[in-house]
Parts: sequence; C-alpha cells; structure tokens
Amino acid sequence: MTTKYLLDETRMPKTWYNIQADFPEPMAPVLHPVTKEPVGPADLEPLFPKALIEQEVSTEREIEIPEPVREVYRLWRPAPLYRAHGLEKALGTTAKIFYKYEGVSPAGSHKPNTAIPQAFYNKQEGINRLTTETGAGQWGTSLSFAGSLFDMDVNVFQVRVSYDQKPYRRAVMETYGAKCVASPSNLTEFGRKVLAENPDHTGSLGIAISEAVELAVQDPNTKYALGSVLNHVLVHQSIIGLEAMEQMEMADAWPDVIVGCTGGGSNFAGIAFPFMGHALRGGESPRIVAVEPSACPTLTRGKFAYDYGDTAHMTPLTKMHTLGSQFTPPGFHAGGLRYHGMAPMVSHAKELGLFEATAYTQRECFEAGVMFARAEGIVPAPEANHAVKGAIEEALRCKREGTSEVILFNLCGHGHFDMAAYTSYFAGELGDYEYDDAELGMALSGLPSVQAV
Ligand SMILES: Cc1ncc(COP(=O)(O)O)c(C=O)c1O
Repeated sequence: MTTKYLLDETRMPKTWYNIQADFPEPMAPVLHPVTKEPVGPADLEPLFPKALIEQEVSTEREIEIPEPVREVYRLWRPAPLYRAHGLEKALGTTAKIFYKYEGVSPAGSHKPNTAIPQAFYNKQEGINRLTTETGAGQWGTSLSFAGSLFDMDVNVFQVRVSYDQKPYRRAVMETYGAKCVASPSNLTEFGRKVLAENPDHTGSLGIAISEAVELAVQDPNTKYALGSVLNHVLVHQSIIGLEAMEQMEMADAWPDVIVGCTGGGSNFAGIAFPFMGHALRGGESPRIVAVEPSACPTLTRGKFAYDYGDTAHMTPLTKMHTLGSQFTPPGFHAGGLRYHGMAPMVSHAKELGLFEATAYTQRECFEAGVMFARAEGIVPAPEANHAVKGAIEEALRCKREGTSEVILFNLCGHGHFDMAAYTSYFAGELGDYEYDDAELGMALSGLPSVQAV
C-alpha cells in the first residue's frame, strides 16, 4: 500500500505549460486603464521585466524553466503526491483520494513556484527592488524568500486584517530581509487617501496592490510582482499539475475529479490546467471543480466583465469574473482568497465551460480541515481547507453512489502561521457571511464601461 509518490529530482519538469496554446478560443485583450485600448508590451514595462511581459502574451505551449530557477526549485521540488488513506478511512468512502502537497516549500505554500522566477527575471534585467501586496502573508513570505536568494530588496504591503491576525508572517518576511507594512499605509498617496476616509480600514488586496504599484512606478530600479491572477504566474504554477500527471501515472491511476481552491486562481490553475490541456488535446477529460469562499464568491456570483485589478485603478483592465474593484470582503481568515477578481485565464476557461465552481462558508471549511488534520496529520492553510472541503464532498458523493472515482486535490499550503484562525474556530468565534444580491450589486455597479473590442 503506497502512501507517497515521489519523483526523483531528475524528473522535475524542464518546461512550464501554457494553456493559451490549447484554448479553443483566444482570450479577450488586456486594455489600458486610461485609453481603454489594447495594451502593448511598452505599457507594461514600468511594472514588469521584458521576459515576464513576453510570457504574459505568449501562446507557446511550453516555456523553458531557466536552470538557475530549477536549481532553487530543487530545494523542495518535485513536491510529493499523497494517497489519503487516512481520510478515505475516516470518511468510509469508496473513492480513492490523492493530494498534491505544496506546503513543503520553504514558505509553506505553492507561492515560491512563481516568486523564484519573478525575482530571477527581474534581477537578470538589472532590477534590485520589488514591491508587492500580500493577503495571508504566504505570497509576501515567498517573494521575500526569493528576494533574499537573488539579493534584492522587497517591500511588502500586507492587508491590515491579516497583518494583525498573523504577526509571525511578518517576522518571517523580516528574517528574509524584507520590509513589511500594514496596508492601507501612510507610505503612499493612495494609502493616505484611504486612511483619511476611514482610519480603521481593514484593507483589501485591491488597495495593497494599488500601494505596491504606486511605489514601483516612482523608481526605474523598482518593479512590481504579483502573486496570482496574471498569465505568467499561472504558467509558473503549472509545474504542480505537470508533476502530478507523472505521479498519477506512477500510482497507475488518473483523476476523474480534480479540486482546487481559488483566490486569484493560481494554485487551482497550477493543478488543473495541465490536465485540462491534455483533455483539450484529446486525452481523458476529468471533471474539474474550483472551490471559493461564500464571503468572496467571484466565480459563482461575480460578473464576467472588464475590470481593474486594483482599487485605485492603476492596473490595466482585464476581462475576468469580478465582484467590482471597490468590493471589500469581510475579514475572514482565508486571507489569500479575499480578492475581488479572478485570473483572466481561469475566467476564460470557466466561460468555455471547462470546469465547475462552488462556494462554501468558512466554518464548514475549517471543519473539513480539522478532519483532514486528524486523519492525515497535516494542518492545512485556511485557503487549502476549501479544497479539502470540496474533495470531501466529492468523496461522500462517491460513497452515496457506490463508485470508486479517483479524486485529486491540491493541498496548496500548511496552516502553521494561521493557528489563531483555528483557535477562533474552536472557540466558536468564526462567523459565516453570505451576501444578498443587493450588496453584491452595489460593488458591481461601479464596473467601468468598455466598448466591445
Ligand atoms: C495557501 C494559499 N492558498 C491559496 C491562495 C490563493 O491564491 P491563488 O488562488 O492564486 O492560489 C493563497 C493566497 O495568498 C494562499 O496563501
């Protein structure tokens, strides 16, 4: 009875996978925030290095992983694939459950898969400072880790509510040599404006992005790094699914169902897109399920429309599922899932009917996470609990139907810095929040008007 499927370092993928090569229809163009005309590479250069802009617009199926990036990846990759024998037993299910575990990275999540190449390409083009936002702190930690390896300064704007909930995340970022401030902050014009209107603002990823972008555009030696949403980020994360494909073959199984949680969409795309691409090229076609929080229901209740990626409207407009860039979700504990938008690639795949989406409240996700920890030993990050919940629901369905489907999910991070959230859950202090249509409609009423392009 095998529990772990491990790939040798020599079998780590040498290329990332880009689903744009296999989409049956092309994605909508990205628009300039002011002119609302399609952006060209030059428009993005104040923010990103040329190599990443090329990846952003690439339609090549395979993109080579540079050797210096592979060298760092080898610190924790290939990541293990587990058969969840304990969870199957606890559920009494006939399903076979597998999970890919990304919590083995130094930062504790999938985020270094893109932090490392982003820092590498910036450094190659002579950039020595990066600015970024972070929600739960996983992304800020990952970019700080990457900055320390490539000898770069990193400035992190952490959403205020997470900054207060997770003080040790900040300590890790500082250990790697980064500077971390709570957002909204007094360091930027936009942060000062938000604080003037509401000194107790709990922050949002949209505001933190605006602050990080504002700082980056002021200095030619500084660029901005985003931890999710953008095409190049999703391409880097494909290493998760590419490895999982090889590991499923080792296990002599192939997923009937794939489950991932969605904040900006990167870990979900990471596990799902390589399998989705395989299906688009005529291979087996698993059901794919994205799980999001009911308190930030981008895919299940958002609108597919052009919107800004940030609150101050400094970023380009992309066509995506959105709740409106002014949407501020409540301070629930899965901080990494509190983004108003969704990756355009994930949104496009959703519109093409390539996967399903479902939403759960935070209490039922913590309940699933606790069950998982007691059966498998790993305490999941609150974000990952959404994927655990989704996988458990699929396994219970198999039990009811008496089928033995193969379920694969992405356990995108551990929760060792999120224990205050678990403490609140055990104390019965976690609230559940669902919006009525009027509340969601308010945030959506501010969507920019864009002529059909
Ligand atoms: C552990 C973890 N999972 C998931 C997410 C959500 O991001 P994404 O949907 O891009 O994977 C985050 C974001 O911070 C995270 O820290």
